[in-house]
Amino acid sequence: MRRFIRRFNEPNTSKVKKPRDLFSSKIGIIAAAAGSAVGLGNIWRFPYETGQYGGAAFLILYLAFILLLGLPVMLSEFMVGRKARHNVVGTFKKLSPGKHWYVIGIMGIGAAFFISAFYSVVAGWSFEYIINAVTGQFEGKSPEQLNQMFLDFKNASLRPIIYQLIFLVLTGYIVASGVRKGIERYAKVLMPVLIILIIILDIRAVTLPGAGEGLKFLFKPDFSLINAEAVLSALGQAFFSLSLGMGALVTYGSYINKTDNLSSTAAEVTLADTLVAVLAGVAILPAVFAFGIEPSAGPGLVYITLPNVFEQMTGGQFFSILFFVLLLVAALTSSISILEVVVAYFVEELNLSRKNATIMAVALISVFGMLCSLSLNENAVAIHVFGMNFFELLEYIAANILLPLGGMLIAFYVGWILKKDQVYKELSNEHQVRVKFFGVFFFLVKYVAPFAILLVFLHGVGLLKLIVQGLGIWIN
Ligand code: PHE
Repeated sequence: MRRFIRRFNEPNTSKVKKPRDLFSSKIGIIAAAAGSAVGLGNIWRFPYETGQYGGAAFLILYLAFILLLGLPVMLSEFMVGRKARHNVVGTFKKLSPGKHWYVIGIMGIGAAFFISAFYSVVAGWSFEYIINAVTGQFEGKSPEQLNQMFLDFKNASLRPIIYQLIFLVLTGYIVASGVRKGIERYAKVLMPVLIILIIILDIRAVTLPGAGEGLKFLFKPDFSLINAEAVLSALGQAFFSLSLGMGALVTYGSYINKTDNLSSTAAEVTLADTLVAVLAGVAILPAVFAFGIEPSAGPGLVYITLPNVFEQMTGGQFFSILFFVLLLVAALTSSISILEVVVAYFVEELNLSRKNATIMAVALISVFGMLCSLSLNENAVAIHVFGMNFFELLEYIAANILLPLGGMLIAFYVGWILKKDQVYKELSNEHQVRVKFFGVFFFLVKYVAPFAILLVFLHGVGLLKLIVQGLGIWIN
C-alpha cells in the first residue's frame, strides 16, 4: 500500500513517450477554450437559473463573480497547465512533488464524470429536437402542446438514452482524433456560426409582442429575490459557464504554446462566454414571457420555449433546425473539453493509448449518464436524495460544490503555494510580454478569490450560519 501511495504521488513523467500535441495558433486556442466555455451552460442553464433566481439581480451577481473570481481563476488554470504540461493530476504532482495538491486534480476528474453524465442527457435531447424541427413538428402547436411534447419525450423509455449514447460516442470520436486534428479543427468552424445564429434569434425574440416583460426581468434587478442559495448558484453558474474548477482549462493550458499570451486569451474567452450567455438570455427570456411559460420551468426551458419562437417566425423551420444543430455543436465543443480532462489523465497516468483511454472513459460515463437520464423519466423508479433526483443531485454537487471548491483550491495554490515570480515568469512568457494587470490579478488570486469563494460556499450550503452561531456560543 505504501509503495502504491508513493508511486501515486510521483509525476508519471517517464511513461509519456510521445511529444504532447499542441494547439496550432492563438485563434485555435481561443476557439477551443471558448468552445469549452460556451455551451449548454450559456444557452440552456444560464436562462433557467436566471429564471429561477429572479432575473437581473442574479445576472449582476453572476457578472461580478465572473470578473472578480472567474477571470483570475481562468488565468490561473491556463498558467499552471502550461507551466507543467501535464494532465490535471500530473500538473500538481509535477509542480509540487511529494505533496497532496494533486487531490485538486482527482476532484476535477470526479467533477468531469458528474458533469458529463448530466450534460450528455441534455445534449442528447437536441437530436430529438433536430428531428422534430426537420419534420416540422412545431408548426401550428400551442405553448401547451409544445410543453407536452417535451414531457412525452422525456418520459419515453429509450429515445433519450439512445441519443445520449450517440452524443457521448461523437464526443469520444473527436477526442480520440487528438487536440489539433480533433478539438481545434472543429471548434474553429463551429464557434463563429453559433454566435451569428444567436444574434439572429435575439432579433426575433426582442421583436415579439410582449417581449418587454422578459427584457425587464433580465435587466431590472429585484434584490429581494436573492438569498444564500441564489448567491451560491450565481457563483456555481459563473464557474460552470467558464469551465472552471475541474481542470478543463488546466488541461487545455497544457496544450498552449509557450509564446502565446495567456492573459489576453483568458480575457477574450471570458468576454466571449459572457456575451453568449447574455445573448442567450435575451433570446430566451422575452419568449418565456411572451408565451406565458414559467421562467423557473427548469432544465426543459429552452426545449419548451424556443419552439414557440420558431413557430411564430417567418422561416421558423429553417431557424429551428439551425438552432438545435448549434445547441448540439455548442454542447459538443464543451463536452470534448470535459472528456479530455479524463482522457489526458488516463493516457498520462495510467499509460493507456489515447484510443483506449477514450473508450474506457466513454463507457464509464455512459453508465452514470444513463442513470441520470432515467432519473428524469416519470415512468422509471425515481430515487430522491435531499429532494433531488439523480440528475439534479449530480448537477448540484458538480456546479455548486465541486467547481467552486476546485476553483478555490486552484486560486489558493497559485496565490500561496507557487512563488509570485514563478507565476509572473510563466504569464509573461519568460519576460517576453508585459502582463498588464499582474498586480490586480495576483491580489485577486491570493487575497480575494480563495476567501470569497469559501464564504459564498459556506453561506450557500448553510454552514456559515452554524459556524457564526458556534462562535457566538464559544465567545459567550
Ligand atoms: N462551460 C461549459 C458550458 O457552459 C460546461 C463545462 C463545465 C465545460 C466545466 C467544462 C468544464 O456548457
